[in-house]
Amino acid sequence: MTIWILFILSAVGLVSSTVNPQKALAEEAIALVKENLISCANKSWELGAAAEALTELSWPTASVFNGSALPPPAHLRLVSNASDVISIANEVVSTKPASSLPLIAGQGSSADPASIGVAVLLANWTRSDLSNDAYAKAAADQLAYLLKDVPRSDTGAISHRTDQVQLWSDFVYMVPPFIAYYGALQGGDDGQQLLQIAYDQCRLYRDALADESGLWRHISLGSWQDENHWATGNAWAAAGMLRVHQTLKYSSEAEKFVDQQANLTQWINEILGASWAHQTPNGGLRNVIDDQTSYLDTASTALMTSVTYRMATIHNTTNFTIAAGKALQLIQDSVDDQGWLGNATDPYTFYKPLPAGRPSPEGQAFVLLLQAAWQAFIQA
Ligand SMILES: *[C@@H]1O[C@H](CO)[C@@H](O)[C@H](O)[C@H]1NC(C)=O
Ligand SMILES: *[C@@H]1O[C@H](CO)[C@@H](O)[C@H](O)[C@H]1NC(C)=O
Ligand SMILES: *[C@@H]1O[C@H](CO)[C@@H](O)[C@H](O)[C@H]1NC(C)=O
Ligand SMILES: *[C@@H]1O[C@H](CO)[C@@H](O)[C@H](O)[C@H]1NC(C)=O
Ligand SMILES: *[C@@H]1O[C@H](CO)[C@@H](O)[C@H](O)[C@H]1NC(C)=O
Ligand SMILES: *[C@@H]1O[C@H](CO)[C@@H](O)[C@H](O)[C@H]1NC(C)=O
Ligand SMILES: *[C@@H]1O[C@H](CO)[C@@H](O)[C@H](O)[C@H]1NC(C)=O
Ligand SMILES: *[C@@H]1O[C@H](CO)[C@@H](O)[C@H](O)[C@H]1NC(C)=O
Repeated sequence: MTIWILFILSAVGLVSSTVNPQKALAEEAIALVKENLISCANKSWELGAAAEALTELSWPTASVFNGSALPPPAHLRLVSNASDVISIANEVVSTKPASSLPLIAGQGSSADPASIGVAVLLANWTRSDLSNDAYAKAAADQLAYLLKDVPRSDTGAISHRTDQVQLWSDFVYMVPPFIAYYGALQGGDDGQQLLQIAYDQCRLYRDALADESGLWRHISLGSWQDENHWATGNAWAAAGMLRVHQTLKYSSEAEKFVDQQANLTQWINEILGASWAHQTPNGGLRNVIDDQTSYLDTASTALMTSVTYRMATIHNTTNFTIAAGKALQLIQDSVDDQGWLGNATDPYTFYKPLPAGRPSPEGQAFVLLLQAAWQAFIQA
């Protein structure tokens, strides 16, 4: 994009005039955000989000936002080795007990460990030692666990929890992108079936969690529920459906999934529209999106903004980019000079702001996802 187009866009308010044109955050700031992410991500879903964020930011041709990602080239390492992503896969696969089907054992969540599955599959496809089947076996175990062992709702939705059937919006980022990627890499009838399952899980989760507001409730079924429109949960759902959309679109079976892609697009837009309708004056989303008394949460704001820029790029629209521009400004202002995202919600209790000095690992990943999405948007 030329400087003139940027000038025109900023004149009409599509790009905040104070935004550094090529990068959402400066290179040095992003390097710190990334270093901090790697140092603090240790829960299964944090590792999965970290692997995805590092892929999208540093190895964009290996992410499903690029058509050349499916399948990954066998010689990926010659051009770009994705070393930080592969090292997450290595760490997880090498410490996985032989008796565990999930990638990380003993998690209460049946979904969260699967979030690392995309990195494990990437490691398999790009490995230099072709006799090493550890990644493929770990990924196959994780898939079998989800499809055969985890309990399901009456409608067929795979439970987010192991001990009871309970559906969390978070699931949509953890599981369907992995199943879809697995299917796209397998190809053929089996692959096509997996792509359909990935889509169906998004559909079934939306059926269970979305309401007439356009927003998704956080948790349904099981022994307790969370009816709030939790911002992070809505962002997980939108971002997860977007990754499934991209995987369908760039798979060899794409033409068999035209309606599915259209539905996913509509469902993502529903969340974006309903979320940005509640944007705070300083550009953010509240932790409970439609609760005026809820505090600002920069983490979900960053993830929702990244989805907004991705959608605008993919569909060549300016939909919601004015809201995204304001949100981007807030995120830029919320990353301190040590590379930590401030004013994020507590990702473990959901409903308390993080005390100063405590990091949100997923929030760090969301900043990188936003940087990657902004770069793609500005380059398109
Ligand atoms: C996980 O990260 C948190 C926050 O940085 C830290 O307090 C905790 O010790 C880490 N746990 C493990 C098992 O590394
Ligand atoms: C995908 O990556 C290639 C470089 O390998 C680049 O030329 C192309 O523009 C990218 N496509 C998208 C949609 O980002
Ligand atoms: C991976 O590539 C980076 C540069 O992108 C390089 O610094 C690093 O040494 C490489 N690592 C391996 C294991 O090849
Ligand atoms: C692992 O990679 C090989 C190619 O090296 C591929 O044939 C195989 O299907 C992959 N396994 C999975 C589970 O994707
Ligand atoms: C897409 O959504 C519409 C409306 O909800 C539904 O009728 C249709 O069956 C969906 N298509 C697929 C392929 O699921
Ligand atoms: C963009 O927004 C318009 C309404 O403003 C909507 O009709 C359209 O479907 C959206 N486009 C995409 C690709 O989301
Ligand atoms: C994107 O949209 C603009 C204006 O709406 C149009 O001029 C341009 O050709 C479109 N680009 C692509 C790649 O479709
Ligand atoms: C967090 O929000 C408060 C209140 O708006 C603000 O004073 C503070 O500067 C913010 N912290 C960061 C790191 O952005």
